[in-house]
This record gives sequence, structure tokens and C-alpha cells, in this order.
Amino acid sequence: MIHEPLTEPARLRDSFGRVIDYLRISITDRCNFRCVYCMPEEGFPATPKDESLTIGEIARLARVAAGLGITKVRLTGGEPLLRKDLPWLAAQIASLPSVEDISVTTNGFLLAEQAKALAESGLTRVNVSLDTLDPERFVKLARRGNLQTVLDGIRAAQEAGLSPVKLNCVLMKGANDHEAPSFAEMTMNEEIHVRFIELMPMRWNLDEGPSFEAFSAHQGQGLLQIKQASGGMLNDLEMRKMYVSSETVMRDIEAKLGPLEPAQLKTNGPARSYRLAGAKGTVGFISQISNDLCSRCNRLRLTHDGFLRPCLMSDGELDLRTPMRAGATDAEIADLFRHVVAHKPERHYLAEGQTVTGRGMSQIGG
Ligand code: GTP
Ligand code: 5AD
Ligand code: SF4
Repeated sequence: MIHEPLTEPARLRDSFGRVIDYLRISITDRCNFRCVYCMPEEGFPATPKDESLTIGEIARLARVAAGLGITKVRLTGGEPLLRKDLPWLAAQIASLPSVEDISVTTNGFLLAEQAKALAESGLTRVNVSLDTLDPERFVKLARRGNLQTVLDGIRAAQEAGLSPVKLNCVLMKGANDHEAPSFAEMTMNEEIHVRFIELMPMRWNLDEGPSFEAFSAHQGQGLLQIKQASGGMLNDLEMRKMYVSSETVMRDIEAKLGPLEPAQLKTNGPARSYRLAGAKGTVGFISQISNDLCSRCNRLRLTHDGFLRPCLMSDGELDLRTPMRAGATDAEIADLFRHVVAHKPERHYLAEGQTVTGRGMSQIGG
């Protein structure tokens, strides 16, 4: 006889029937890089210290979320490795019985020195952002740090057993898009998983421009320069011009390296994965512009200052910090989580010209 479990595990479901089981927590908005699509050269003004959540507050919110059915937690930034208490937080979250997967998205610069401690804290795996394999281009795109230190960080993560190691590569027309085959080639001899992320227009809507579709029609008219916007950060319009679709990247890789066959990768979020014949690793595509990721979106985002967002690309968010500091109980905070889930939008509206204006990527965590 088959016995049904006595209690069903908790589950959060939004008004479109999607199960929400993944929480991304941005633990700081500070960063030691200045990627051209993310931050101006001078950085953003520092957040007053008392506006950022303490590590204990973050741990508490993660515990409440786990009680509601969150099974995957990702710690992001800014650059999460800048927070000294990261291993402690990872250990707290790893000890929550319902959390199966706890990971970090990092720019890799501090990974060589921290990978071992992170693995020991119970962290499962890391995703490392890397947009170029050329040392000089690295300095142009990230504007801080250097390529070799990031490569050393990736190696250290592999050696520490943080597995699988995934690379996130944002391709930009005329800047680094020709490097896609070199990234794909890395997967031949190494168990590394490269994902190409479509560039998303964010925040600085400085120019009133036509819709995204209008720009897509102008693709392929030669290489664009990285025009310098405020503090050298690309503005919304420039990002739309530099967009390269996953399909284009895939064709480019296949033309140089042969067919990409569909592959399965454990722990896959939004990426569609493929493998080159005989390769140890995989090549993935995160195509939030050209493909519908929204219909299977399973995530919530918590910002470093304690706001819960149901969607990366929509401005709506709810303040959890104020009620928490005013003494809200766990049950009351759980209700706020449910409220945000109930208001998760069906999809983003980038194709219709929507842009995120309230916060930049470094304040949301990707
Ligand atoms: P895995 O679980 O390892 O697959 O991680 P992930 O891809 O969910 O996390 P990561 O931080 O590596 O995210 C990679 C990028 O995918 C993000 O920075 C975003 O650019 C994009 N992305 C992830 N989730 C969403 C989402 O919900 N909406 C949109 N539009 N883009 C997303
Ligand atoms: N479009 C696409 N990806 C972006 N990231 C940051 N800003 C953007 C953007 N505008 C990526 C980073 C990192 C991840 C967290 O988000 O490269 O890999
Ligand atoms: Fe820092 Fe990541 Fe933004 Fe680059 S994309 S500046 S590494 S937060």
C-alpha cells in the first residue's frame, strides 16, 4: 500500500499558476567592477548603512521564504563576495531543511581567495560573470580588475568542488560578440558551462527612442562603437542597438565549431543548454528578449535594502524592511511574501518599449 505524506510541502503559486520556488537575494549593491552595461565609472552613490539589511535580517527573510516553499536561493549583488559575512549567511541558508540549492553569482575577482571557505560553508555552486577572454577588452568592459584573477577564481571554484561552475557572458554587438566561439570552445575540454545572456536595456532611458522591434529591424548594419554615456555606462538606447539575439550567436558558433545538440544540465534555471560533439561542458542561452522566459518564471528577488520584487524587468516592489524593523512577526512577513507573489506580472514588456527605471541591475542582482 502506498502511504501519502501526512503534510504537503508548502508551495507558493502565483495568479498565473506558476510555482515560485526560487529566491534571489542581492546582499549588497556595491561592486568592485564597473561593467559598461551596469554601472557608471564613478559607481552609484553609496547607500546609507542603515538602509541595507543586516546579515541577520537577510537570514531571517530567507528562513521565512523557505517556510513558504522556496527551495533554491541565489546570493547576488553588486558583488556578493564583498560582504565579509557571506560564508556565515551561506551556512545559515544551507542549514534550512527545505533549501536544496544555494548558489552565488559573482564577478569572480575575489573567488580565488574565498572559494574554499564558501564550499565549506555549504554553498553548492557558483555562476561567474565573464564577458571576454581578451585581457585588454576585459579592462574596457569591466573597467576594474583583470582577466587572469577571474580565471584563477574559476579554477579555484572548480578545485573547491563548487559544481557545476557556470559562466555568464553578455554579448554586445561590435564589442565582444565575435568571442562567442572562443567561449564555446572552452567547453570542449573542461566541464564548464558557458551561458550567453542577451543584453537587457536597463535604467537609463536617456533617449526617447523607438521600440525594441524597430531596433531589431536595424540589426546587422556594421559594428557599433561603445558610445560613452553617463560615466561611461551604456544607456538604454545604446543597449538596444548592441543587442545580439541568441539565435545569431548560435548560428555563429555552429558555423565555426559544428552542430550544437540539445543537452540537459542539472540545476538549470532560465538557460536552454546544448553541447558540441564530444564536449565535456555545455553551451547555454538565456534569451529573455527573444524567447519567452516569463511563462516559466519561478522567482522572486529581494534587494539589499529589503524590497521584494516579483519581476526583474518591472518596477513594482514591496518594502519588507520597514515592517520587519517595526516588529512584524514571521507570519506577518510571510503574508507580505504571499502578497508579492499574488502581484507577480505575467511577463515583461520590453518589446513594447518598457524599461526598468527605478533600479539598476547592480541593485537588483540580475
Ligand atoms: P542557474 O540556476 O544556475 O541557471 O542560474 P540563473 O541563470 O538563474 O542565475 P544567474 O544569476 O546566473 O542569472 C543569469 C542571468 O539570467 C541574469 O543575470 C539575468 O540576466 C538572466 N535572468 C535570470 N533570471 C531572469 C528572469 O527572471 N527574468 C529575466 N528577464 N532575466 C533573467
Ligand atoms: N543585460 C543582461 N545581463 C546583465 N547583467 C548585468 N546587467 C545586464 C544587462 N543589462 C548580468 C551580469 C551577470 C548577471 C547577474 O547579470 O553579467 O552575469
Ligand atoms: Fe558589478 Fe556585476 Fe554590475 Fe559588473 S554586472 S558592475 S560585476 S554588479
